[in-house]
Amino acid sequence: MAFTFQDFPVAADDLRSDVLGGLAACPKSIPPKYFYDETGCRLFEAICAQPEYALCRTERTLMASRLPDIAAAVGPLDCIVEPGAGECRKVRLLLDALHPTHLVVLDIAGAPLAAAAQTLARAYPQLAVTALGMDFLRDLEAAAPCLPPGRRLIYYPGSSIGNFPPDTATALLARFRQLAGADGHLLIGFDLKKDPLLLHAAYNDAAGITAAFNLNLLERLNRELDADFDPARFRHYAFYNPVAGRIEMHLVSLAAQTVSVAGRRFHFALGETLHTEHSYKFRRDEFSTIAGNAGWKLADEWEQEGFAVQLYG
Ligand code: AVI
Repeated sequence: MAFTFQDFPVAADDLRSDVLGGLAACPKSIPPKYFYDETGCRLFEAICAQPEYALCRTERTLMASRLPDIAAAVGPLDCIVEPGAGECRKVRLLLDALHPTHLVVLDIAGAPLAAAAQTLARAYPQLAVTALGMDFLRDLEAAAPCLPPGRRLIYYPGSSIGNFPPDTATALLARFRQLAGADGHLLIGFDLKKDPLLLHAAYNDAAGITAAFNLNLLERLNRELDADFDPARFRHYAFYNPVAGRIEMHLVSLAAQTVSVAGRRFHFALGETLHTEHSYKFRRDEFSTIAGNAGWKLADEWEQEGFAVQLYG
């Protein structure tokens, strides 16, 4: 078993300065990457099991049923790189079908990533596994020296790309292009535009798990930035905006209130929003334009029940 872990600590300062900057802005906002502390990761797993949130299940079914086509389209490969790998579960299908010699996984939550990657390394003794605990939005280029030579596939599933506005998504895909190298590939999964009522339900599940996921952000700030948010005084509010083609997720203040965060005070008016996430939905042609602007050429694509996977070279 070959396993290495390298930590690029996400400075507590980043959380502090991003949050203080976001709370001072108008409208107030916090970057969605801060959802994923230990509780947030657990709640996200639970969201994926909700009947209304089909995204993860549909992607899994699509990948499993089209795997031979995907493997044939990708061809021989040396290394898979997965930014935002989390529990390292999704990549197993690809490992079984593509047999790369190396796997490099990246995630902002370093400790759970290291544990998951080590389990993977035990299950695949022929595979060299490198886990990089990093905020790849900030440090992606630092991964380059950890990659072996040869053909690389960047794997970015789960519609995570939808959590960025289109110009930021283009910039990130261009950085993936650099990391992949001239003969590299990108395999990316994203949620398609569909009936807005289905989308609305997916982000307003009856069990209230998405609401808990959204509100956990406030609990995290209480724990890590010595804040005094009362989550009961904020409402999870998510809706589909068909003009912008995105789910918008907010925490709306249910009262006029002042909150202290890291020694600074912030006022919320009754009904004022703290914006926490965008989740863009695409048509396949819209997405290939975004990827094209980042230097990728569409090689193949697969679609199932409102979800798409595209392969680029
Ligand atoms: C991780 N990401 C693709 C999820 C999404 O659907 O935008 C995060 C999420 N937010 C609320 N539910 C799920």
